Amino acid sequence: MSETARMILDGQEYEFPVISGSENEKAIDISKLRGSTGYITMDPGFKNTGSTQSGITYLDGENGVLRYRGYAIEELAEKASFIEVAYLLIYGDLPNKEQLQYFNDSVTRHTIVHENMKRFFDAFPLGAHPMGMLSSMVASLSTFYPESQNPNRDITDIDLTIHRLIAKLPTLAAQAYKHNVGLPTMYPKNDLSYVGNFMHMMWGVPAEDYEVNPIVESALNKLFILHADHEQNCSTSTVRVVGSSQANLYSSVSAGVSALWGPLHGGANQAVIEMLEAIRAEGSPLQSWIDRAKDKTDSFRLMGFGHRVYKNFDPRARIIKKAADEVLGQLGVNDPVLDIAKQLEEVALNDEYFVKRGLYPNVDFYSGIIYRALGIPTDMFTVMFALGRLPGWIGQWKEMTENREPIGRPRQVYVGATERAFTSLDAR
Ligand code: ACO
Repeated sequence: MSETARMILDGQEYEFPVISGSENEKAIDISKLRGSTGYITMDPGFKNTGSTQSGITYLDGENGVLRYRGYAIEELAEKASFIEVAYLLIYGDLPNKEQLQYFNDSVTRHTIVHENMKRFFDAFPLGAHPMGMLSSMVASLSTFYPESQNPNRDITDIDLTIHRLIAKLPTLAAQAYKHNVGLPTMYPKNDLSYVGNFMHMMWGVPAEDYEVNPIVESALNKLFILHADHEQNCSTSTVRVVGSSQANLYSSVSAGVSALWGPLHGGANQAVIEMLEAIRAEGSPLQSWIDRAKDKTDSFRLMGFGHRVYKNFDPRARIIKKAADEVLGQLGVNDPVLDIAKQLEEVALNDEYFVKRGLYPNVDFYSGIIYRALGIPTDMFTVMFALGRLPGWIGQWKEMTENREPIGRPRQVYVGATERAFTSLDAR
């Protein structure tokens, strides 16, 4: 027998269907609520609102479980390549050899960006934030590839758009970095891996051969996988909502990049390092920072702590903490900020305020430390997150499109002035 939820409003009883997910998650389907009762629900920040039924990522925040298409994040981070995970998220299954070869070849064929885009970069001020440049560049891709604007969404056009976007994002990201620091840009080298090619465009210089360091390549591969999807988070919901108006994939993902930039979301990785650096520079005891984070009159928060969904631990943070130790050890880097981070974690995890609220290190707490050890400048950290999150945004956009989901358009409860007569300027 199918479950129902009963609601009593103004003495009248209404029934609503209950939806069950494949992992037995439950939701009350209130899509007909307003039509039958005249009421809407109120849920600022969508803390209890399901916006879709998705088959991409499963997340159990209470038990720290994260799976892409059924595969545990721990296993994927250990055994898969980022390009395989991208295929998995977008097309639903791990690719076989032929599928992987086709996908890889197609992505590799599209890595160069149009020469005219260089002029856009030239127009940005020196030192422009790479995230601002990246979101503008991704949106502008739609002007070079008008078939992406076709709302009928022919499958061949969509696949071409998807492959182009995956291919070009690392090129644009590296160009944003080169522009930011005033160095000449590098053309892609297509005999390298997806990650290796990005490294070549980031750190290579025209007069010299760039050698890909396998330790760095493997660490970036892992970081990209860990960031690749996270169900209906802020940037992904943004991509889906923008895409629901039938805006093209480039515009939708550009909006996702902008949403990711904020320090409460992907921008936290930059904010964490800035916070740890400030702690080191000031030399004040860690407890004073913890006290500030607890003080409700102070806007300071412990960056890299807390999560909307994880209330016990973030499985990605566990993997990254271990990887940070390994990578720094392999590269022979001794970063005092890693010690500060570990001590801060220790103090916070023993503090009742953090324990009571379920505030634990999230994915961004240790990722910045690895990025630093790999030689990535602080304001590129969130760009690295965007490179990793791209297949998730694309997979979610594709699912939303294929399910023909309705345009995203929440309602509100109006609390402004009631109707009043216009008064002339002299009378005000
Ligand atoms: N430091 C101090 N207190 C915190 C922190 C923190 N980092 N995070 C949450 N709290 C407190 C809040 O003040 C609130 O306390 P209260 O119940 O006494 O009012 C309680 O914990 C719950 O916090 P909310 O803000 O309601 O939780 P929400 O789910 O809305 O926010 C968020 C989650 C945005 C991640 C939040 O924990 C935060 O701001 N963290 C720091 C920024 C950060 O690291 N963001 C990255 C998230 S991971 C990602 O996006 C990839």
